[in-house]
Amino acid sequence: MMKLTLLSAALLAFGDSAVNALSSCGQSQYDPAQYVCWSDQFLCPITAGEPLSFCNGACYSKFMYKCENNVLSLLPAHTGTPFTLSVSNPTLPIDGKPVTASGLHLSLAGNTSTYCPVEVVGAACPPGNITAFFAGNGGLSMDTMVPGGQQAYLGPDWNMHYTQAHSAYIPAGSLTQGFGGYEGGGFVNLNGNGWGWVACPPQASGGGGTAWNLVGRNETNAASLTACTPVNLKINPLPSGTVGAWQYA
Ligand SMILES: *[C@@H]1O[C@H](CO)[C@@H](O)[C@H](O)[C@H]1NC(C)=O
Ligand SMILES: *[C@@H]1O[C@H](CO)[C@@H](O)[C@H](O)[C@H]1NC(C)=O
Ligand SMILES: *[C@@H]1O[C@H](CO)[C@@H](O)[C@H](O)[C@H]1NC(C)=O
Repeated sequence: MMKLTLLSAALLAFGDSAVNALSSCGQSQYDPAQYVCWSDQFLCPITAGEPLSFCNGACYSKFMYKCENNVLSLLPAHTGTPFTLSVSNPTLPIDGKPVTASGLHLSLAGNTSTYCPVEVVGAACPPGNITAFFAGNGGLSMDTMVPGGQQAYLGPDWNMHYTQAHSAYIPAGSLTQGFGGYEGGGFVNLNGNGWGWVACPPQASGGGGTAWNLVGRNETNAASLTACTPVNLKINPLPSGTVGAWQYA
């Protein structure tokens, strides 16, 4: 959840069947598994494994905001240079693992699938062993060489997909906008009123692979995603000119 959360005593989960010993924050008691205490007086929640920071009365995520001279503001947009994305939530085994492209779908901690027509570009084929992106104008595209590029989008299933090379086809009901890429921060899904991203573990039954799925959570699907865990996606800048792949397959 990226929404700013104003402090209030209501944040405290009194009467919870607390397994964790409570800590003190000034006069208040809190569960250190769910909150962080700043300056022994301000409580902020821990969301997606991130203890939110505190800025002049507001709790904020460092994936999207900064606090300078007690003033909260958005991080600058990360535009113009490529980046990889990695999962951030220290409570998960896939913390730090990359967002990976395969089968026209973005996964977490999977393998990257690429293709390069060696007869066309010969030795100029990029290694194709990373999944790299560009952000801009609220959208996300794959960092590729293939003419026409490949655009990433939130499909009607709120999974992240990308277009096939040489095709602009995107299913009806998809969202190509409403994302924020922040310099020194994260790649945020602003669609769906700040419900953010979740990581869903591999299905116990079903065809192999250990990749996790990345899903955009919203008010409608949240109840069906209880097996999934909120995550942030961290932007890892790449040197300008780095090409991820000829095309992602
Ligand atoms: C990708 O391949 C290149 C060239 O073989 C290599 O230098 C680089 O370390 C590899 N990167 C990763 C993330 O495996
Ligand atoms: C939320 O996501 C589901 C897919 O998981 C989609 O069917 C639904 O339309 C989305 N709800 C909103 C409010 O966008
Ligand atoms: C990635 O590929 C390796 C080698 O083919 C395979 O063992 C592994 O299970 C794959 N990982 C995922 C997440 O599918």
